[in-house]
Amino acid sequence: MPVLLQETVRCLNLKPEAIYVDGTTGSGGHSLEILSHLPENSRLICLDRDPDAIRLSRERLGSDPRVHFTQANFSDLAGVMRDLTIEKIDGILLDLGMSSYQIEQSGRGFSFIREEPLDMRMNPNHKPAGEHLINSLSARSLQTLLWEYGEERRAKTLARAVVKAREKEPIKTAAQLARIIEAATPRSHGPWKRHPATKTFQAIRIAVNNEMDNLETFLRKIPNLMAAEGRLVVISYHSLEDRQVKKAMVHWEKTCTCPPDFPVCGCDKTPAFKRVFKKGQKPEQAEIHHNPRARSAIMRVAERISS
Ligand SMILES: C[S@@+](CC[C@H](N)C(=O)[O-])C[C@H]1O[C@@H](n2cnc3c(N)ncnc32)[C@H](O)[C@@H]1O
Repeated sequence: MPVLLQETVRCLNLKPEAIYVDGTTGSGGHSLEILSHLPENSRLICLDRDPDAIRLSRERLGSDPRVHFTQANFSDLAGVMRDLTIEKIDGILLDLGMSSYQIEQSGRGFSFIREEPLDMRMNPNHKPAGEHLINSLSARSLQTLLWEYGEERRAKTLARAVVKAREKEPIKTAAQLARIIEAATPRSHGPWKRHPATKTFQAIRIAVNNEMDNLETFLRKIPNLMAAEGRLVVISYHSLEDRQVKKAMVHWEKTCTCPPDFPVCGCDKTPAFKRVFKKGQKPEQAEIHHNPRARSAIMRVAERISS
């Protein structure tokens, strides 16, 4: 079930003779809705790094001459645009994180309840897989990874538990890792609101797929790729991503960024985007009730200012 579906399409502000990108087409939920509102003479480019997502989205959207599919990382949007001889785009959506297909059907160990290989690659052609990381990183590196990418307060204990467990046998499946984390989490910490392996899985997935770097590269390049009045819509599912998006949007909005004690401005910075909402938008309770995955979603929207 696509998150914030109507809001997303409304915020993209679809116009005639324009080019839009769904940078994370997944199973095609948002793409289909965008397509159903897309003016006849506009185009939609659907990207995903996962080849299965491109196949699913293509099946779902059917053969509409206004749509083009490319398996690509959104951090390489500039390359995709070059290949398609597109100079500027008029709007882009990133619905970050993993798709329901990846969690439930890909067989790549994204879900901790499944006895699947601990792979976690969104693009199966890239290396390394989660199994390699979890079995090869030192306790110290694992601790850092869980702390930085999982914001896991028990990072040290859990990293040690992983290292101890893998001395007996290599960690090969998602469920096996989840059991190790469970065993290292005393019940005296109270009933679990979330599975204790949630943050560990998030951290490994982010590292395996280089997610923070991809987002950073994208945010660095996007001002040069958007036409004036083009809208950037980003839905994040955890605070690490959302902080990165918010920071970029706040920076774009600023004029001078010289230190306050500089007598005259030397940076000549002009605003690149203005935020459409100052605050991140969250789904209504009714949506969360029907789609619990929407619980952690936060959407930020910015509009390109003509330079
Ligand atoms: C939450 S799902 C998108 C769901 C989609 N909006 C829908 O309605 O079906 C996120 C998708 O983003 C893709 N993805 C994550 N990081 C990516 C990246 N850097 N480049 C391209 N696709 C990415 C994942 O493979 C996944 O299919």
